[in-house]
Amino acid sequence: MTELDDLAELAKRRGFFFPSNEAYGGTAGFYTYGPVGATLKRNLEDVWRDVYVRAMDNMELEAPTIMPEAVFEASGHLEGFDDMIVECAECGGTHRADHLVEDAVADVEDAEALGTDRVAELIVEHGIDCPSCGAALAGEPVDEFNLMFGTNIGPGSAAPGYLRPETAQGIFVEFPRLKEYARGQLPFGVAQVGRAYRNEISPRRALVRVREFTQAELEHFVDPERDEPPIDRVADVEVPLYSAEAQHAADGGVETYTIEAALEEGVVTSEWVAYYLGRSIDFYERVGIDMDRFRYRQHLSGERAHYAVDCWDAETELGGHWIEVTGFAYRSDYDLSKHGEYSGEEFTLFRQYDEPRTVERATVDPDMSYLGPEFGGAAEAVADALASLARRDRSAFESAARRAAEESSGDAPRDGDEVTVEVDGEAYSVPVEETGFAVEERTESGEHIVPHVVEPSFGVDRLVYSVLVHAHGTDVVDDEERSFLRLPAELAPTTVAVFPLMARDGLDDRAWDVAARLRGEGLRVAYDDTGNIGRRYRRQDEVGTPYCVTVDYDTLEDDTVTVRERDSTEQARVAVDDLADAIDRLVAGETLADL
Ligand code: GAP
Repeated sequence: MTELDDLAELAKRRGFFFPSNEAYGGTAGFYTYGPVGATLKRNLEDVWRDVYVRAMDNMELEAPTIMPEAVFEASGHLEGFDDMIVECAECGGTHRADHLVEDAVADVEDAEALGTDRVAELIVEHGIDCPSCGAALAGEPVDEFNLMFGTNIGPGSAAPGYLRPETAQGIFVEFPRLKEYARGQLPFGVAQVGRAYRNEISPRRALVRVREFTQAELEHFVDPERDEPPIDRVADVEVPLYSAEAQHAADGGVETYTIEAALEEGVVTSEWVAYYLGRSIDFYERVGIDMDRFRYRQHLSGERAHYAVDCWDAETELGGHWIEVTGFAYRSDYDLSKHGEYSGEEFTLFRQYDEPRTVERATVDPDMSYLGPEFGGAAEAVADALASLARRDRSAFESAARRAAEESSGDAPRDGDEVTVEVDGEAYSVPVEETGFAVEERTESGEHIVPHVVEPSFGVDRLVYSVLVHAHGTDVVDDEERSFLRLPAELAPTTVAVFPLMARDGLDDRAWDVAARLRGEGLRVAYDDTGNIGRRYRRQDEVGTPYCVTVDYDTLEDDTVTVRERDSTEQARVAVDDLADAIDRLVAGETLADL
């Protein structure tokens, strides 16, 4: 059995996670977390909140998972959130065409960047077969497939909606309100932990590629000209970087840089992205990622999402594959600009100048007695579109005015003096003299800017899976092989398990009392009195419980218990009155010898 097979078996048997809906034949790409898995996942989310919300003083929100179509028109997901699909004519199986090519062709690492036509050609050139039935895929069309799950909001089909493919959009669309909560001051960060949905073509590798998953995302809104990250805080942090250049080089590999050196040498170009790469190392270590199986990989140019300017992924190694667990992207002003443009709301923030400035401003004052008869019901919208165009591109009016002057001197053909705007997909042309266009000088105290966004986006399920795979090990204790999970104590589903040596002679009642006392102190406690003690230790080791407490006959005499540590299997005697405190100290990093 491979490492991942072992883990899948353990996860199912002990209740970490398992395929959903198996009573109905199962549904590919959906997993249910069992009793211990759900707790582990929540504990990991809590650590994430501790780092990215509490310690960084960011806000957190919880937005709906279904959003109207207009949101995804603006965000670009409707148009561009596609993967390449090829369907087998023989068995009807659907596959990621780019992945098939990457697996089959040694020198192709990023097939998506090649486009559908080239990928279809490569399938022919390399005789790639259907992974499900073995039939040839040569000649089958390669298409783009949009990954969003669609639905209707309310009865009927008048209001199409989509299950969000990333939690980020639930933050961006609320920016006009969120900036008020931030008192109009940049920078500020808004986090969200929640479900995202993608209709993946080929779900695979357990929690790695699923159709419903949890993201923990931070959207950090910054002024691109004024805000700088506190790089000093991370300058000396060492990060393992696998740059785009190294990926292209024949002998390229991961190199360790300090954040300061990575920036100085131009390996990471965005200071904000570098800052988050540095800050996040502690988080990965804290949740138990094996840092010998971890790297940051830079996106190759064709790989970047439609919104991203500079992008790095945190990757963990699982069963010989490198898996993206986090994307760090500099999203520029893409999202807020788009939502501003499509919604007509203010997705901007007021930036105060140090000194008031005299500036030129283009304005329009359209002649409605011309627009009304000319454009009827669209006249108001045409006037608004003219005003918006004047703000964005005054040269459209200036060149029309220039042409009008040339026309009147008879040097140019007629009709060149019009300004054209688009309303609901239709073009409207207005003679420049009817627009009331003017350029005025004004003294202004500031300007409206569209903030830029820096985004660390974590896949919680992939992290949970990585933590489990990296924590899983076997050794021999008392001549018996044991399987254990070396989970950090704050992540372990159970912090302490309490056993009576025997389920009789009052030991069980005493053990119940001890367990109840520890629960009363806020600890996650399990009680187990079945099977021999060795068996009970093994059960707890296998779900990652860091400490076990045994109540024995001495307890009845002297009110002490045995505390046993999972990793070292060492034991110490502790007074029941001191037990909760002792467990807290152990969780905080002390050892049994310190007690
Ligand atoms: N808002 C940015 C964004 O969504 P992404 O790289 O597409 O970026 C972020 O996704 C993270 O979400 C990934 O690093 C990965 O951990 C997780 N993720 C994405 N698709 C997933 C899937 N189908 N199954 C499980 N996790 C997924």
